[in-house]
Amino acid sequence: MEVVIVDGPAEAGALAAARIAELVAAKPSAVLGVATGSSPLETYRSLAARRDAGLDLSRVSAFALDEYVGIRHDHPESYHAVIEREAVRPLGLDPSRVHVPDGLAADLDAECEDYEARIAAAGGVDLQLLGIGANGHIGFNEPSSSLSSRTRVKTLAPATREDNARFFDSADEVPVHCLTQGLGTILDARRALLVAQGESKARAIAEIVEGPVSARWPGSVLQLHRRATIVVDEAAASQLELSDYYRHTVEHRRIVQPGV
Ligand code: F6R
Repeated sequence: MEVVIVDGPAEAGALAAARIAELVAAKPSAVLGVATGSSPLETYRSLAARRDAGLDLSRVSAFALDEYVGIRHDHPESYHAVIEREAVRPLGLDPSRVHVPDGLAADLDAECEDYEARIAAAGGVDLQLLGIGANGHIGFNEPSSSLSSRTRVKTLAPATREDNARFFDSADEVPVHCLTQGLGTILDARRALLVAQGESKARAIAEIVEGPVSARWPGSVLQLHRRATIVVDEAAASQLELSDYYRHTVEHRRIVQPGV
């Protein structure tokens, strides 16, 4: 696991955007896994600025991590709408290459199976962008999720519904169920890039980076990933015991790999 500590949210977004831009430069038809919520917003902003400066993302395919069950796609907080507003339009993605699981499907299990098949047909995810919940979830894989789970229906933890109530008019409006890529699905991505900002994520970051691999803190499954990078600002890094070592490794890597 590579842990990179930066000053604040803007720097975290800039670094994540630089990694994505590097991938797209090498592979213009790259397959990106995209996240919703507040964590990736600075990354999308920074990528949009790179697009203004000439970065072409029109051949990139994108697969969202998750979607609520039971809210209309045109609801402003459905992940269909969020991905369209925060990623597709500002980044100039081709909507026909952007996929979000359908939380309105009549047969949700079949939709989940089909979503996995669509990811496989696209050649798999090259880089999965992730945020993390305060309880350690990635995607909507809540604590106790199987470490090898695939895309499926999940029940959101009450704490997650409370955290996400800020996006809705009232807490009751936050859906109870969702479709989410599984932890096994996320592990299949060729690279994983998790961005976390702020004090509220500090415990989760310490647990997933330095604690045991455990379904109690689902993001800890990234310790099993061959190319996982965790980008955190100072506040989100504040409970890491080995933060001096992570800074040291980044400094020293620059000597042999100046572009990193
Ligand atoms: C979103 C997702 C979630 C969020 C997490 C953090 O697609 O999969 O895991 O990344 O809930 O949310 P924010 O970024 O709003 O704190």
